[in-house]
Amino acid sequence: MDHFNYQAGVLHAEDVPLTDIAASVGTPFYVYSSATLLRHLRLFDEALEGTDHLVCFAMKALSNLAVVRLIAATGAGVDVVSGGEYARAKAAGVPGERIVFSGVGKTRAEMRQALEGGIRQFNLESEPEMEALNEVALSMGLVAPVTVRVNPDVDAKTHAKIATGKSENKFGIPIARAREVYARIAGMPGLRIVGIDVHIGSQLTDLEPYRLAYRKVAELTETLRAEGHDIRRLDLGGGLGIPYERSNSAPPLPLDYGAMVKQELAHLGCEIEIEPGRLIAGNAGLLVSGVIYVKEGEGRQFLILDAAMNDLLRPAMYDAWHEIVPVRQAAPGAVLTPYDVVGPVCESGDTFARGRMLPSVAAGDLVAFRSAGAYGAVMASEYNSRPLVPEVLVDRDQFAVIRRRPTFDEMIERDTIPPWLQDAEA
Ligand code: LLP
Repeated sequence: MDHFNYQAGVLHAEDVPLTDIAASVGTPFYVYSSATLLRHLRLFDEALEGTDHLVCFAMKALSNLAVVRLIAATGAGVDVVSGGEYARAKAAGVPGERIVFSGVGKTRAEMRQALEGGIRQFNLESEPEMEALNEVALSMGLVAPVTVRVNPDVDAKTHAKIATGKSENKFGIPIARAREVYARIAGMPGLRIVGIDVHIGSQLTDLEPYRLAYRKVAELTETLRAEGHDIRRLDLGGGLGIPYERSNSAPPLPLDYGAMVKQELAHLGCEIEIEPGRLIAGNAGLLVSGVIYVKEGEGRQFLILDAAMNDLLRPAMYDAWHEIVPVRQAAPGAVLTPYDVVGPVCESGDTFARGRMLPSVAAGDLVAFRSAGAYGAVMASEYNSRPLVPEVLVDRDQFAVIRRRPTFDEMIERDTIPPWLQDAEA
């Protein structure tokens, strides 16, 4: 469920007509609904009710400061994967004890930054990384709280580019080696074991891969405890999928997920952490775009939008399907025609959809991509020197620009002409 509905024939974000935002901000733009973000966050809290838990929003899905502030103000934590995300989390006001640091290649500088600013735990992914963190922590006179991300070798049954829990993936350490690795950590004075971490992939639409992975983690918890390790926390990762296509069978709900987690893990008495990103932000955001031209091709009609693959990369990168709807509601029973929906970037990959059935659309109309809140704005680039799309946050009947569109000058100012070229004639 989301809060993007038609009222009086115009698509609204909560109580704000998207046409008002377009008039004030220009297109394209991303718009997020506070109510939807908070609702999804609450669903996870409700799903894990009765267990000691912390929901750590995976900021990589949507890392705008305002969104992180909104989410963290509920008491939630965040999962970060870079020094930049850590800095954003702190700037948004998230206390260090609610920040988890994940990622397969944390640098020493990032480790230092997080130890200085405060950290709930590092999720470690390799032995060289353990050695590095041990050294960094000792050099600062600190002890770093850690879990080890184990790779349970299960098939998450998702897109190959976002599956992470198979042994061929770069993530975590093989679960079969966990005993050895935990024993090594126990001998490192700069590290303190607090639990186990696992994350098997993203856009999962089935609970079974999770169940298999969590069973292995439960078993490992008992083994490691028997060997004297203090396993008090289980970080179960993120990955629960969302329904991109309404007609498709719906992925499991957070409530079902929570019930499965309790069934598999409650007996261990661990604190549970989860790192959802997509399920919180995905359906809480739209990308709104204007139609530049409708072009008649050979046997097909192209809808040329002012948004492109650099603004929403998912269709080009993962063949992802996003629902596209007109901002002005079509008359009931309006005839649908097939459009190839494309952006202006100079490559054929800049295609959002082929043969998409839409009510008749004309130049100047607005369309909205649904389910674009997660991995939308954050994956945008300035390819073709297209300014990053602005982001807007709605709260009931108010809206604010939470990242403005840069001017051409601002984009250009970041480049520098070196001294030896300054006098060169162009
Ligand atoms: N925790 C870890 C360690 C992760 O690597 C990820 C996502 C998450 C949590 C959050 O997963 P989520 O709940 O959002 O599925 N750009 C891709 C998705 C990449 C996901 C990477 N890791 C896409 O647009 O589909």
